[in-house]
Amino acid sequence: MLNRKDLLGTADLSKEEILSIIDLAELYSRDNIDNANNTGVLRNITQINLFFENSTRTQVSFEIAGTKLGANIVNFPLGNSSQSKGETLLDLAATLNSMFPDILVIRHPNSGAVQLISEKVKCSVINAGDGNHEHPTQALLDAQTIRKRLGKISGLKIAICGDVAHSRVARSNIFCLKKLGNSIKVIGPKTLIPKGIESFGVEVTHNMFDGLQDIDVVMVLRLQKERMDGAFFSSEREYFHFYGLDERKMQYAKPNAIIMHPGPMNRGVEIDGDLADDINRSVITQQVEVGLAIRMAILDLLTAKHPLRKNV
Ligand code: CP
Repeated sequence: MLNRKDLLGTADLSKEEILSIIDLAELYSRDNIDNANNTGVLRNITQINLFFENSTRTQVSFEIAGTKLGANIVNFPLGNSSQSKGETLLDLAATLNSMFPDILVIRHPNSGAVQLISEKVKCSVINAGDGNHEHPTQALLDAQTIRKRLGKISGLKIAICGDVAHSRVARSNIFCLKKLGNSIKVIGPKTLIPKGIESFGVEVTHNMFDGLQDIDVVMVLRLQKERMDGAFFSSEREYFHFYGLDERKMQYAKPNAIIMHPGPMNRGVEIDGDLADDINRSVITQQVEVGLAIRMAILDLLTAKHPLRKNV
């Protein structure tokens, strides 16, 4: 069980909470393969999905996760909402609160916006990604994918490569994977590595060949141009040459190292397309599969004490 109202980030999750989520996700993972997961535990629960930013993986998997558990799902159509008429985020939160939802799943382009809403509503709030702050469900599914593929989730050497500066995935993964007892290296051009990131307990290098030596897990990040307000690299061609993951650079990692990418990926920019499709090393498809189980586990655990679940 999670003794908390909301899931806003991995920074404030304990190691025990992280393990309880991925342990339950392991059960849901097996049930998903057997298609035996229609437990109905969320039968009386209303889940509203509010995505103020585009999403494929997170939005669809939260919708399927809630559906599989029996929740009543409302996908909030932002294009038709009163936000376009100037309604503030706090007024929107108060409006939704008055309709008695049980869970809000929120993605927002501004860091901190999801927490702000969570403070104004009575129900549970799940952060589906806020600005470059946190994307906790991505980090949890990444941890679960690593454990599934390598058989353990501690004592590993993990490289997070590329656009760390604009990445909520990087931040959530650093907090989560450090708590689980792994060592983290961030690799990228100086312009895309935040100053002072060493204070998170990570090693920094700007050279992929040096950085990938002896690495168990290579996590590649998307270049997040939608968050860039200037020139951070000369050209995509040059970026790929120095920082794109290709066969030549991958040779420096351990022979059984796995390749991860949160998606959506830019083939030929941050990762070579053939490497992304190499099922012996790339776990990118498995990350999406595990994402469904992780989101089922989180919905289940966050609502475990909900009074409407007593009769189920
Ligand atoms: N990884 C991730 O958050 O993907 P989406 O933007 O498609 O949800």
